[in-house]
Amino acid sequence: MKSTKATALANSNTALIKYWGKQDEKLILPMTNSISLTVDSLSTTTTVEFSEKYQEDHFFLNDEKQTGTAENRVIEHLNLLRSKAKMNLKAKVMSRNNFPTAAGLASSASGFAALTVASCKALDLKLNQKELSMLSRRGSGSSARSIFGGFVEWIKADEASESYAKQLANKDHFDMRDIVVIFKQQKREFSTREAMKISKETSPMFKARLDVVETSLDKMRKAIEQRDFTLLGQTAEADCNLVHSIALTSKPKLSFWIDETVKIINLIKDFRKGGIAAYYTVDTGSNMHILTLPQFAAEIEMILNRIPYIVKTVVCKPGDGAKIIDNHLF
Ligand code: ADP
Ligand code: DP6
Repeated sequence: MKSTKATALANSNTALIKYWGKQDEKLILPMTNSISLTVDSLSTTTTVEFSEKYQEDHFFLNDEKQTGTAENRVIEHLNLLRSKAKMNLKAKVMSRNNFPTAAGLASSASGFAALTVASCKALDLKLNQKELSMLSRRGSGSSARSIFGGFVEWIKADEASESYAKQLANKDHFDMRDIVVIFKQQKREFSTREAMKISKETSPMFKARLDVVETSLDKMRKAIEQRDFTLLGQTAEADCNLVHSIALTSKPKLSFWIDETVKIINLIKDFRKGGIAAYYTVDTGSNMHILTLPQFAAEIEMILNRIPYIVKTVVCKPGDGAKIIDNHLF
């Protein structure tokens, strides 16, 4: 029986200058470049097996069979990869996220990067990281960046064959920390994909960000290159606030922050007054990231761990890009 299996591990990435708005929804072409940090402790492991024994595709996430949108997105991506490999065997996909799914911590980024890398290996498609990034982008835009480790920029383009991510600096270039804060309370009314579309179409603030994003990207590249943590933090926070202003001024209103998010934002401001270098960024969920330097991480974590409405903190370092591993999930 014809059958081929592979497993990949991909890390999530934290957007420092966010991807927010598509110029092409089918090809997933972004309206702006974006810059992120691939982190080492939020990851997805995915095993893919293409085999004659499957009559249809099956997708299991964290041991649960998926249906609806989650399953359809995976099947659509498998179809794209199968057509590239000129192969039509059905697949079983088993995936595990070691952090909350669909909660603003970029599970679609690590999820589709792992799916792409594992599938391409199983399909014997010999692709370089740039090609993998372009294919992964079609599953979820932010996953194009998780193919690479360290500091990464995803380039916008009008052509599908020209929009891919590239590494700006490897994980050892700038030793910083991303403390992921997970709240007991969770709220999310819209998926990232829906929110991005609604806000592009309805928020008067959407265009305002386009006017300043090139300057933000320049500042972020400079901050990374010069290891200027203050510039990195200030620029990431400013971009985060802009994206959430767009969300808040959309119709319907998209609000991802909860009271706890705002309390931690205020705590971070107090940290800074006390000489602790810390900045926040939040994606499409109430959970958040605190960007800091290694020497402050333990103290911040200690303070956070005493707060009752926080269930978990994860201190992340800059991490590696997506890779093939030997341990299959089935
Ligand atoms: P976030 O990326 O913040 O977790 P999104 O709404 O962008 O939230 O993406 C969540 C969606 O990504 C899920 O609903 C599911 O469709 C998909 N997803 C998450 N994890 C995986 C995975 N491991 N493999 C495939 N798809 C996944
Ligand atoms: C707020 O990559 O999840 O996290 O391309 O529709 O799958 P799709 O969107 P997705 O969007 C991520 C948005 C963000 C910012 C970012 O990661 O840059």
